[in-house]
Amino acid sequence: MEGEGELGSSINGGRLLFFSLPLQGHMTPMLHLAAILHSKGFSISFIHTKFNAPNSSKYPQFTFHPLSDHLSESETAGLSVFDLAYLINDKCSEPFRDLLTEFFTDSSENRPYALFSDPALTFTRDIAKSFALPRFVLRTSGIGAFLVYSSFPLLQEKHYLPIQASQLEQSVGDLPPLRVKDLPAIGVPDMETFTKYISELVEEAKTSSGVIFNSFEELEDSAMAVLRQTFPVPIYPIGPFHLYSPPNSSSYLTPDRTSISWLDKQAPKSVIFVSFGSVASLKQRECLEIAWGLANSGCHFLWVIRPGSISGMNRQDALPEQFMDMVEGRGYIVEWAPQHDVLAHPAIGAFWTHCGWNSTLESICEGVPMICTPRFADQMVNCRYATNAWTIGVELRDGLERDNIAKVVRRLMVEEEGLEIRQRALDLKMKAKLTVTQNGGGASFESLKSLMSCLSSSS
Ligand code: UDX
Repeated sequence: MEGEGELGSSINGGRLLFFSLPLQGHMTPMLHLAAILHSKGFSISFIHTKFNAPNSSKYPQFTFHPLSDHLSESETAGLSVFDLAYLINDKCSEPFRDLLTEFFTDSSENRPYALFSDPALTFTRDIAKSFALPRFVLRTSGIGAFLVYSSFPLLQEKHYLPIQASQLEQSVGDLPPLRVKDLPAIGVPDMETFTKYISELVEEAKTSSGVIFNSFEELEDSAMAVLRQTFPVPIYPIGPFHLYSPPNSSSYLTPDRTSISWLDKQAPKSVIFVSFGSVASLKQRECLEIAWGLANSGCHFLWVIRPGSISGMNRQDALPEQFMDMVEGRGYIVEWAPQHDVLAHPAIGAFWTHCGWNSTLESICEGVPMICTPRFADQMVNCRYATNAWTIGVELRDGLERDNIAKVVRRLMVEEEGLEIRQRALDLKMKAKLTVTQNGGGASFESLKSLMSCLSSSS
């Protein structure tokens, strides 16, 4: 990357610690962030739970430190993100303190400069403080979604929350372009626990040395401007992380490379890629409607159906009888895809996504227009930004019904409107490429430079 030497020279191998939640959407950006800072001259110690441990062989340049978390499979199965975070907070505090004690009794050159942790790992705050170790947090959502989270008290005060069914279409005046139904509180079964979790996330960020985002200011300028005015600590949007250097695979599941050889045989921009990330699940009825919708659209498709992602059913039973015969030659299904390579493939014409932040950003970076079907939490906000602020996608939220699906797929893949949306997506791709470069006057490049100065001064 441009400017690397200039930034890297003062660091001289100083050690940084990283600690992520063991979930795909959190682990991937944390590993990428560590790789960026490694390329700037830091030594990386990556702390992790034994549960869902990252594949250390993909990152031989890092040192990995597994914590004895005593988490059993039966304890973690089916937990929500916040229940998992609470469990880890409960089990990992002592082993984490022991590990830091080792670092700090070690020879001086091994002493860490700073910790980068997920804000959901709340126990890291007090422990880092007791060692006078600066703690930065990586927030793995977009800036817009985080702004909503940090506005929860205001939204409660103004009675937007808890959400009332009668207000769904109403605009949230303080947070354009959101409607009440875009707030990340839709479909949350236990609002009290969720609100507590969100307020802790925000508090962790506010008490940190700085908040890192895998986003860029050219994309989220208005949300960033508000956050900068109201937030008590520095904000560093330095993404898209994976544009600094080609990412190593950080997938928990093995990506099926036959999807790429299948794409190689397809015409340019002829395939819609369908994937709903690493957490979201589908009801059997939804799976059936998606299958018929894709079949009836007449378009070619590559569909990821993760094992266990259809409630109570395996994939064979959930799909219409003889579905694969029916779509032979134009439909391909895998359990997990190499998503970066898929989105970069010339055969891809659109991405039907749940709007997880990583998927949203990866799609933007490849200039791929989206069909947005958010399932929960920040995905609602990302969907609204994609369809209403950046206008690079079409919303398909409430009508998961075969005729509607076929219509929306054709709208994006075949009709004139799709071409216009693709053009806007390509314009945004260009902005994403430039933001990490010095010559492009990139905001992320500058933000990374500020982070580096901050780290150098704390060394
Ligand atoms: C979760 C939340 O749902 C999301 O809203 C939040 O912003 C981050 O944590 P997840 O649902 O998994 O993440 O979605 P997303 O953020 O899109 O992350 C999925 C990751 O898995 C992406 O990096 C994507 O490239 C990768 N992936 C997905 C694959 O590599 N192959 C696949 O087949 C599907």
